[in-house]
Amino acid sequence: MAFLRVIDRDGKEHRVEGKSGLKVMETLRDLDYGVAAICGGMCSCATCHVYVDPDWQERLPSPMSDELELLRELSQYQDNSRLSCQIEFTPALDGLRVTIAPDE
Ligand code: FES
Repeated sequence: MAFLRVIDRDGKEHRVEGKSGLKVMETLRDLDYGVAAICGGMCSCATCHVYVDPDWQERLPSPMSDELELLRELSQYQDNSRLSCQIEFTPALDGLRVTIAPDE
């Protein structure tokens, strides 16, 4: 079983089971402290915005141009920003640590 480490908006860290083959967003969306994911993963709402722990940034596939474009429009954008609907969870990502970004 592979796990995600999720920091909520209050700064509290949670360990949750990652669902292999699903987007990270789909796991975060089910949590009370998770993400809204309004567009359902269509890369158009940015309500699934997370910050990826710097140790993990290089281990994820690079963002596509449409993801980057949307991220860069956000006032809360940082170098380690990602849309969690664009990250597929796999067993290789066991221990991935993400922080839920503040609401826009
Ligand atoms: S769920 Fe809308 S951009 Fe990710």
